[in-house]
Parts: sequence; structure tokens; C-alpha cells
Amino acid sequence: GGQSHASREGINMAAAPRTVLISGCSSGIGLELAVQLARDPRQRYQVVATMRDLRKKETLEAAAGEALGQTLTVAQLDVCSDESVAQCLGSIQGGEVDVLVNNAGMGTVGPVEGLSIAAMQSIFDTNFFGAVRLVKAVLPGMKRRRQGHIVVVSSVMGLQGVMFNDVYAASKFALEGFFESLAIQLLQFNIFISLVEPGPVATEFEGKLLAQASTAEFPGTDPDTLRYFRDFYLPASRELFRSVGQSPQEVAQVIVKIIGKARPPLRRQTNARYSPLTLLKALEPSGALYVRTAHSLLFRWPRLLNLGLRCLAWGRLPTRVGPR
Ligand SMILES: NC(=O)c1ccc[n+]([C@@H]2O[C@H](COP(=O)([O-])OP(=O)(O)OC[C@H]3O[C@@H](n4cnc5c(N)ncnc54)[C@H](OP(=O)(O)O)[C@@H]3O)[C@@H](O)[C@H]2O)c1
Repeated sequence: GGQSHASREGINMAAAPRTVLISGCSSGIGLELAVQLARDPRQRYQVVATMRDLRKKETLEAAAGEALGQTLTVAQLDVCSDESVAQCLGSIQGGEVDVLVNNAGMGTVGPVEGLSIAAMQSIFDTNFFGAVRLVKAVLPGMKRRRQGHIVVVSSVMGLQGVMFNDVYAASKFALEGFFESLAIQLLQFNIFISLVEPGPVATEFEGKLLAQASTAEFPGTDPDTLRYFRDFYLPASRELFRSVGQSPQEVAQVIVKIIGKARPPLRRQTNARYSPLTLLKALEPSGALYVRTAHSLLFRWPRLLNLGLRCLAWGRLPTRVGPR
């Protein structure tokens, strides 16, 4: 009732700030999230904003402004290195992380025949094993203290596959399965898991992807597939980012809300404009309806797809999924 709520608020206000560790803060969603949490009006957070290459820290430091050195510190962390993870956690005051945000990630697009196994493994090492490394490092402390929150920046591609994003989607599906499994055990320890699933977001991510895709040769791929990828998929993908893309600020706002909750949700999509697509699978969980519809839109009615994307770009549909 009202009284217990009020007393809990009272405890919260007196409590020390929660230490939030975020991976991949050199740009995009991680950078925005670090800054928004560090500028929390109620100063509920002490943010450890990490990146693998500290030479990139200027943008974050400039965006942090007065929060720098107060509620935000920058630290080196390469999620692909056990040593770097150990060193980073060892340098945290008190050594305890209350909220871990697994944000670091990389994309890859292209026909699978043209991607090397080594390139695929490196996507998994960052997107999947990177998060696993950090979780293994913070979990003992969280369990001992019987509290914690682990946020994972997944993707709508963690819920359903997208053509030419086979490996990236697989890495996000891996995260979804891993963290859903862990969530069951961790409820027993008062530790919460939240999988955040953005649609397209306008960050460096897309630029890096398209640059990679336009220079890669995809050896061993048949000419029909390669032509389709370059002449149809890449332009359509650009259009998708333009028409339904969210800003990293918007996605960070959703995550800030989730971190502020006493009972954070297990899953949260961030982009309402993308939800017609995720709905196709939610309505028919075998995925067959989604696969057939996506196939028809891409191969049979590409003009309808383009028209749909343009309408979304012109329309004033809100991009945010409203609060529940
Ligand atoms: N943009 C989208 O459309 C979109 C959609 C859904 C989900 N997501 C997810 O959102 C997350 C953030 O991506 P973003 O859109 O903000 O893209 P971004 O601006 O490219 O940010 C990615 C961040 O991950 C970092 N990173 C990559 N490998 C790393 C490693 N080994 N160790 C530590 N950091 C590493 C990058 O650092 P460097 O600068 O050193 O490379 C960068 O700071 C990713 O998990 C991505 O999969 C993105």
C-alpha cells in the first residue's frame, strides 16, 4: 500500500548511488546512456563509462560536461579481453557493480557464403561472449549482495531473423537465450535481467556496416545473390534507417527508465514504428507468417515495401513504444 511505497522511497533517497558499468561508450547508445544516467537529477547513479580505446574519449567527455569526474568516470574495457575485464573491475571503487549494461556490439551484413568463419566468430566474441565475460565477472558480487540488474542491448534481430543479417541476428538470439535462462535462476537472488530490443538506430553502427558491405567482395557468392544484395538490399536498408530509425537519445531514455524501476521488465522493444514486423512473429510464434511475409515484401512486392517505408518516413507515427 501507500505506506510501504513511501518508506521504500525514503530508503532510496538515503541510499548511496548505484554503480552502473556500461560497455561501448565511445559512441551511440552507450555514450548517450552514460551521459543521461550521470546527469540524473536525483543523482542516483555513479557511472563507469567504458570503451576499448581511450583515444576516443573526447566526445563522451565533452557530452558529460560537469558530470565528468563527479558522477561519471571513463575507464578502459575491451569486452573481448579477459585481462581488460579483470583490470577494469579491479579499478572500481569498492569493486561492486550494481547495474551492468552490456551495450558493446558490432554488426555485419552480407551473404553468408562470402563471410569467413573467422569474421563470424569475431562478431560472436564481441556481441555474445563479450557480455558473458562481464556477467561472469560481476555475478559473484551481485549474488553475495542479493541484488543487481543486468541490462542487455539486444535488438529486434534477437527476436526474428532479417535477411543478410544472419550472423548478427544469431549473436543476438544467443544473448536472448542465455539471459532468459539466467533470469530464472537470478530471480532467486533478487537480480533482474532486462533485454532491450531496439529497431534501427541512427548511430555509427549503420555507417560502419555499410562501409564494410560496400568494400567487401563476398567471394564465392553467386552473382544473383550479390546483385540482389548490392542493388536492392543495401538501398532498402538505408531507407529503413532513414524512415524508422530512432535516435540513440531515445533508446537511452528507454533504458534509463528501465534502470530506474524497482521491478524492471525482462524484455522491452523501443521502436513502435518497427512493431508491425515484430507483431508478425508475436502473433504466429512458429515464425512462418513472418518469414513468408518478409519474403513476399522483399522478392514479390518490393514496390509495396518501398512505398510503406516512405509512408512511415512522412508519417508522424511516434517512434517510442509508450510506457506500459
Ligand atoms: N544502431 C542500430 O541500428 C542498433 C539496433 C539494435 C541494436 N543495436 C545494438 O546497440 C548496441 C550499441 O550500438 P550503437 O548503435 O550505439 O553503435 P556504435 O555507435 O557503433 O557503438 C558500438 C560501441 O561498441 C563498442 N565496441 C565494439 N567492440 C568492442 C569491444 N570489443 N570492447 C568494447 N567495446 C566495443 C564500440 O567501440 P569502438 O568505437 O571502439 O568500435 C562502440 O563504442 C550494440 O550492441 C548494437 O548491436 C544497435
